[in-house]
Amino acid sequence: MNRRAFLKTSGAGLLVAGAGVGWAQSGLRPLPVIPLTDLSGGIDGRIGLALKPAQHDFGTGAASDTFGINNSYLGPVLRVKQGQTLPFDVMNGIGEVSTLHWHGLHIPGEVDGGPHQEIAPGQTWSPDVPITQGASMNWFHSHTHGKTAQQTYKGLAGVLLVEDDASLSADLPKTYGVDDFTLILQDKAFDGSGKLTYALSAEVFEEGFTGESLVVNGAIAPVGQTVPSGLVRLRILNACNARFLTLSLATGPLTVIASDGGFLASAVETDSLFMSPGERYEVLVDMRNADSNSLMVGFEAGEGLLGFLGALLGNGPEQTALTLTRTATPGFEGAMPDALAILAPPDPTTATVTRSFALTMEDGADLAALAANWGNVCGDGGMGINGQPMNMDRIDEKVRKGDTEIWRISVDGQLHPFHIHGCSFRILSEQGAEPPAYAQGWKDMVHVENGWSDVLVTFNYEAPEHAPYMYHCHILEHEDCGMMGQFSVT
Ligand code: C2O
Ligand code: CU
Ligand code: CU
Repeated sequence: MNRRAFLKTSGAGLLVAGAGVGWAQSGLRPLPVIPLTDLSGGIDGRIGLALKPAQHDFGTGAASDTFGINNSYLGPVLRVKQGQTLPFDVMNGIGEVSTLHWHGLHIPGEVDGGPHQEIAPGQTWSPDVPITQGASMNWFHSHTHGKTAQQTYKGLAGVLLVEDDASLSADLPKTYGVDDFTLILQDKAFDGSGKLTYALSAEVFEEGFTGESLVVNGAIAPVGQTVPSGLVRLRILNACNARFLTLSLATGPLTVIASDGGFLASAVETDSLFMSPGERYEVLVDMRNADSNSLMVGFEAGEGLLGFLGALLGNGPEQTALTLTRTATPGFEGAMPDALAILAPPDPTTATVTRSFALTMEDGADLAALAANWGNVCGDGGMGINGQPMNMDRIDEKVRKGDTEIWRISVDGQLHPFHIHGCSFRILSEQGAEPPAYAQGWKDMVHVENGWSDVLVTFNYEAPEHAPYMYHCHILEHEDCGMMGQFSVT
């Protein structure tokens, strides 16, 4: 069934699902400040991360079955420093196979936490993860072959902030939970009793799973937070399975200071910030003269019917995610920054290799059967890259360490967010055009829709064939369905 037919026949279903929007109308909840584990001053012993089943109330009044990492839902915010080696003990207590991938870290394939580094139930995985890169907002999430979507949706995700000497001394707000907040944005579906739901179908594989409720750090939006008078820093992760988010402020432009892999060359002002699943951006909000301001989030409207239903239900294209209210306390005294980092424009003439990746979505029974054979989970369709679904036993590309390459990712049709492990890259073009200014710094995610996008990338760490890196669509249902490939770096 194509997208349009699906939307027509499921209109009634959407109305029922839309009832869940009521959860969002029961007032402003306090912003949950995710517990911080600050290791940047030194690490004492091993760092324990316990994956466990838990119960969590998102704000519906009902306890939902979730997974947490040391918490009842999601993991701690880990704050570490360039030059450290992180001795993790990842304990798998969820009763099924899992993995934990460090998304954004430039680390060897052996400790990357991809689908080859399975942790059996009851077992502990103990990688020593070297942090060589500079200040950046990274995250960690399940990457279990065929189960990434379900496990991440239930809560196996967290944020890892890398600091360096420059970021620690930078003239920027950095008091966690006071003027420096980490926001994990997700969309969730709840049943009539307020419990978290997740169901797969052929249509869900095609579109990716979306919920009607916006959740911030595990609480249904809108959430509120008081802040001192000054600049406020928001470090934002789109941890949705499949939903693109359009961010803006109720009053004034957003000031973007960093993308996936680090600081931008200089602050970028923008009226809206378009974030795919997997992307991170840091923004500053000026609370020196405003009594309050709100971070607004627009769900991708999709096709006409979805937008229409959304408006009908009072859940228009934009909703309040977070309202900041200023107190009389003086906060960060500095001004909006100008120069942030030294970042030369990417130079495509340095590339010695070009590779092409065509994302494919087909109803092809062959592709679907192959996918099923190789442990990908799918509906009736098949998905792959360059005509082949993900196969754990096949190395798709062999990259030479230190080479600079151009990767051209193409697709006919729907928008996909493409991610590459083990690196940060620069976007040369998105659908043949220059990317928005806020996406011109270090990235590990690029958008591809109806055409192609080019990135310039160098891999500086090894990934042997038994521990390869992945590249994939970050719509997690697409990844699980086989829109993923693997490469070695030697
Ligand atoms: Cu965020 Cu391969 O993952
Ligand atoms: Cu990754
Ligand atoms: Cu996709």
